[in-house]
Amino acid sequence: MIPRFDARAFSGITAAMRDAFDRDGVLVLDGLIRPEECDRLKARMMELVDCFDPAAHRSVFSSTSRQHDQDAYFLESGHETRFFFEEEAFDADDKLTAPKHLALNKVGHAMHDTDPVFSAFARQDAFRLAATGLGHQDPLLLQSMYIFKQPRIGGEVVCHQDGTYLRTEPESCLGFWVAVEDATVENGCLWGIPGGHKTGGLRSAFYRAETGVHTWHETLDDTPFDEDLKAPLEAPKGTVLVFGGLFPHLSSANRSDRSRHAYTLHTIDRSAHYPADNWLRRPDHLPLKGFDI
Ligand code: FE2
Repeated sequence: MIPRFDARAFSGITAAMRDAFDRDGVLVLDGLIRPEECDRLKARMMELVDCFDPAAHRSVFSSTSRQHDQDAYFLESGHETRFFFEEEAFDADDKLTAPKHLALNKVGHAMHDTDPVFSAFARQDAFRLAATGLGHQDPLLLQSMYIFKQPRIGGEVVCHQDGTYLRTEPESCLGFWVAVEDATVENGCLWGIPGGHKTGGLRSAFYRAETGVHTWHETLDDTPFDEDLKAPLEAPKGTVLVFGGLFPHLSSANRSDRSRHAYTLHTIDRSAHYPADNWLRRPDHLPLKGFDI
């Protein structure tokens, strides 16, 4: 049983939280974000979507087909706010099957630097305290995403470790997964393998060539994920799940009538090396920043 912590009055990582994080690989912080903050973030995202022209970019995100891997619009989004559609968002005639607000898979990957509302959300004390309390000496904000998990068409995300896509040496990735709306088994909540961060190492690494859009995976450890042990991480609105880069997690498709909006933020430690062959790159004039700007 993965413990849950009441974090409505969170003032830092406690010894019990640290123990749970080390043992299970994930920390469940209920109420860390106030509901009105979730609503504000969602409203800002809707404004950004209002301004997005779906005819301009038709990039699809799918963790199963991974066609976005070869997509420059995706690969060059490390310092931008860009919009990615669901796999089922287009019909055979290449027409959207739903209004754009209901057809997007996610928006990423640098709203924490490109948008003032998202920057303030990402840089709130709750995340800073959690990152430093879980061992980051000097956290850098590497990636953020707004994930829609749309009613009926929200696609699955296969079991993976975030360290595959956000590699540092040594591994230092820390993910904050925020339930902007209630996440349940029915609408595609996250699932994780408790203790799975200690069973085998980083299974694979995702590389991108020095120039262009060529990418590839390399197996580092072929120990299979023990998905028989997976547990649902249901998260009421405002709950934050915190996990490291080795924690195996997944989510199923959303076939319900309710969306499952989530926000994610990933930090790395400045002291760790961030190899240049990571997919997510920043231009020299836009280096990664910390919680202070
Ligand atoms: Fe992930």
